[in-house]
Amino acid sequence: MAKILVTGGAGFIGSNLVDKLISEGHELVVLDNLSSGRKDYVNNKAKLYKIDIRSAKIAKIFKREQFDFVYHLAAQIDVRVSVANPQLDNDINVVGALNILENCRLQKVKKIIFSSTGGAIYGEAEEIPTTEYAPTYPLSPYGINKLTFEKYLNYYYQVYGLNYTILRFANVYGPRQFKGGEAGVIAIFIDNAVKGLESKMFGDGQQTRDFVCVPDVVEALSAAKEIDCRGEMNISTGQESSLLDIISGIEAALGEKIKVKEEPAKAGEQRRSCLSHQRAKDVLNWEPKIDLKTGIKLTIDWAKNNKRK
Ligand SMILES: NC(=O)c1ccc[n+]([C@@H]2O[C@H](COP(=O)([O-])OP(=O)(O)OC[C@H]3O[C@@H](n4cnc5c(N)ncnc54)[C@H](O)[C@@H]3O)[C@@H](O)[C@H]2O)c1
Repeated sequence: MAKILVTGGAGFIGSNLVDKLISEGHELVVLDNLSSGRKDYVNNKAKLYKIDIRSAKIAKIFKREQFDFVYHLAAQIDVRVSVANPQLDNDINVVGALNILENCRLQKVKKIIFSSTGGAIYGEAEEIPTTEYAPTYPLSPYGINKLTFEKYLNYYYQVYGLNYTILRFANVYGPRQFKGGEAGVIAIFIDNAVKGLESKMFGDGQQTRDFVCVPDVVEALSAAKEIDCRGEMNISTGQESSLLDIISGIEAALGEKIKVKEEPAKAGEQRRSCLSHQRAKDVLNWEPKIDLKTGIKLTIDWAKNNKRK
């Protein structure tokens, strides 16, 4: 049994991860300021500290708790917020993350696992599915700041020997996803559909993404603590799905048409995103198990039981 910290453990991916790690028999602590996370998502067997990752008080928690592993998921995740306010994004996603990293170093944490982004780090890639060898030219401050922290992780490993693994998620979806955020399109469309509301489709609907379902992501995160391998790994399906595919998938699962309003395309929106997970297969022995049809059904079932205002 290990003692594990999950920052952002009240959020969409973090709370699913906490459930999984508790089911494996580990002792869990969550740090979250509840800015988008929810207290009721935090497993009642985990200890929750409501605190900002930028706070100096984090040092006392690290000293007291003595973690074996740290999962760093707390983040400003909205790409558009990062465009409107790059300094805020930097403050949370670099300065706040460094506060966590520095405490990992001081308290000799065995390993830190970082949730980075494959969807926002490569920019408009020439190679599809994109591998980790592709050049990184992020199209947003969010992507730049995630990449910056990746470099800090490597630096701390080289200089201080602090072990790490980076998982670059594609567009994650599934139960407990908030409306909005980096990859919220499935959450938004399903949430609106089950309430009978209209969703907005920006552009022609042919833009593509690689949608990976949260239980698969959580499996990859769990496996990451067991390996002794640095570097970054895409966590993705390798399948390209357009927004039109998503709409027809939701309609097929619901057995009815959903309300969609076409709007002009958003300037600067990435056209295609699809990531290879070959490295995760080789190194983590991980492959996604949930196909889009099954994942959409899972998300609809959850949304029907969790209608939000
Ligand atoms: N959802 C995706 O498709 C996706 C894709 C790539 C990477 N990621 C990364 O995965 C991680 C989890 O994302 P998510 O989708 O679960 O988002 P989320 O918003 O549900 O989770 C983020 C959590 O961090 C907390 N938080 C935010 N700022 C904080 C701060 N300053 N101090 C303490 N807590 C803070 C929030 O309250 C929330 O609980 C993030 O690092 C995100 O960048 C997500």
